[in-house]
Amino acid sequence: MTYGPVPANLLPDTAQVVGGRLHIGGCDVIELAEEYGTPLFVYDEEHLRSRCREAVAAFPDGVAYATKAFMSQAMARVAYEEGMYLDVATGGELHVALAAGVSPERLVMHGNNKSSMELQAALDVGVGRIVVDSFDELDRIEDLVGRGTASPRVLIRVNPGVDAHTHEYLQTGVPDSKFGFGIVSGDAAAALARARTSPLMELVGVHAHIGSQVFVVDSFRRAIDALAPFLAEHELPEISIGGGLGVAYVTGEEAPSITEWADAVMGACRSHGIDARVMAEPGRAIVAGAAVTLYTVGTIKPIDSIRTYLAVDGGMSDNPRPVLYGSGYEAFLPRAVNAGRDLVVRVVGKHCEAGDLIVAEAAIPADTQLGDILCTPVTGAYGHSMGSNYNMVVRPPVVFVKDGAARLVVRRETYDDLVARDVI
Ligand code: LLP
Repeated sequence: MTYGPVPANLLPDTAQVVGGRLHIGGCDVIELAEEYGTPLFVYDEEHLRSRCREAVAAFPDGVAYATKAFMSQAMARVAYEEGMYLDVATGGELHVALAAGVSPERLVMHGNNKSSMELQAALDVGVGRIVVDSFDELDRIEDLVGRGTASPRVLIRVNPGVDAHTHEYLQTGVPDSKFGFGIVSGDAAAALARARTSPLMELVGVHAHIGSQVFVVDSFRRAIDALAPFLAEHELPEISIGGGLGVAYVTGEEAPSITEWADAVMGACRSHGIDARVMAEPGRAIVAGAAVTLYTVGTIKPIDSIRTYLAVDGGMSDNPRPVLYGSGYEAFLPRAVNAGRDLVVRVVGKHCEAGDLIVAEAAIPADTQLGDILCTPVTGAYGHSMGSNYNMVVRPPVVFVKDGAARLVVRRETYDDLVARDVI
């Protein structure tokens, strides 16, 4: 069977085919691979900025970039410069955002198990909002503020009990979840009542995050249905619908745009007569499609009557999503973007693990050779950020491209980095 070229909607906004070769941001990606080595993450900066701008226009009351999807100081700055708030879920993400120069007022502090140290750091700098996830956290905040720290604005994270139609591991709004306060149990009502009457914090709203890689915008409507009564009861000025908008990863997939998502969310809020500020926290929808990963083909191993394994110089350490969630990706050769893809192979990594795969069934051109640069698109979210050093493989660099120029924003890890934390 012949597969056509990789569909254009899976490539970054500024992708162009010049003489058969892939250019992003005016840069020939094969030249980038030569200059920076592989594996390499290449982000289209214009694509990133345009998704941030779209989000800001679609959620005019305020919208946060969920930094867990891809975090570095350069990314934090892009989101901040384009007018976004930033969702940070740990002391580490908070640290990077502050190091990048993001104003604390624009930070939303998340986390289901924030330590006193993390809360103290957030309170000390004066983050804009803290999204509270447990009664223990309410205790901790009251304790810290009671001892003299400035009191925060808080939202209560409600678990709306909505099945978001996504991978089991990516669902967060179902009743059996470690996140948020449940409605049926009465915990959500109790947490809201407590935060509202506490003199040690200012309750400003409710928050829900139903899950990730969600294509069905109706799921978000149902979350708003669940939150609306709390907003009305407590006359709260803010509601956040979290993140979770899905993106297309493979041929034939189509996802709602950020604008369509926002329209559905705003419409649902209007239908409940909600006049609070409506906020959101997209991560994946901002960064996923902006990046491609470039690998070098190292071995091609046909196994008679079974399959052909094509191994690249990265793997589950730069993209654990196929292993964790069975996620699908496309692969193609940036030297021949428009070529038919007649050869079906299993793209695997270099890790000592049988499950280390990048694409279970990848269609690639039949003349693919050792040394070719292989490209997987839509790798901008939860690849670099969930990367690891398994097998002491060094983590890849990140390059932003724009207007014909490339800038290194995260350097490649070195072997010295691998021993830098050892104490012997
Ligand atoms: N807000 C909260 C409170 C979240 O927990 C998350 C994601 C987001 C916003 C952003 O969600 P997004 O728009 O990116 O879907 N590692 C998984 C995704 C886990 C998402 C965790 N929370 C993956 O690779 O698919």
